[in-house]
Amino acid sequence: MSRRMMIAGNWKMNGLRSDLDFFDALAPLTASASAEIVVCLPATLIALAIQRCGNGVGIGGQDCHTGQSGAHTGDISAAMLRDAGAGHVIVGHSERRRDHGESSVTVSAKAEAALAAGLVPIICVGETLEEREAGQAREVVGAQLRASLPQQANAGLVVAYEPVWAIGTGRVAAITDIAQMHEFIRSQLPQPRDTRILYGGSVKPGNAVDILSLSDVDGALVGGASLEVAQFSGIIEASVQQSPVR
Ligand code: PGA
Repeated sequence: MSRRMMIAGNWKMNGLRSDLDFFDALAPLTASASAEIVVCLPATLIALAIQRCGNGVGIGGQDCHTGQSGAHTGDISAAMLRDAGAGHVIVGHSERRRDHGESSVTVSAKAEAALAAGLVPIICVGETLEEREAGQAREVVGAQLRASLPQQANAGLVVAYEPVWAIGTGRVAAITDIAQMHEFIRSQLPQPRDTRILYGGSVKPGNAVDILSLSDVDGALVGGASLEVAQFSGIIEASVQQSPVR
């Protein structure tokens, strides 16, 4: 198996039905993109987006519960996302870890639930600024990764390295730090050659070429810039300049 580049958008808690024109505008580019393009949407938009976007774009959720169904008001299961047409789901995003106190053990169970439902989990890990400044970035990310992966090795899952301090701040990690952390993450994976590792944190058209050209970076997880079709298109165009398969 080889690793196909992935550019994944994360709309977070943004987006109304009137914003789905985004997919019409993106269609000409995604039809010719060599990378796998995915947009992770609020659950309310998933089924509608699938009607709009054709085959060129995968649609994902942003979180799922560990269980299949049951008395969990406000939660959504991986099976429900799959039923709505999603193919992917983000688990363990730092905003979920922060806002909902999600532990890596829970994230691992969510990743397992996603795989069981036929979804590709995008498992997020990343250190805080304090942890990086204390020289603990590698230790923290390694521990988070080991605890967040599903019990059974699965090359279909995707890992996203997102330094918390780079998310939504406009501060992107130094290229050498990204390269070293991705190399380290790969060394910790049960199926290192086949598992895709995305970088996330203030990825924009202007920095995407440098980031995506790193040999252990298999794509990007894009927040703010995925809300603007011009910016997201610029990142997809940057991916076209790279070898689509690693
Ligand atoms: P950002 O978000 O691109 O706005 O920094 C990335 C993410 O949170 O996935």
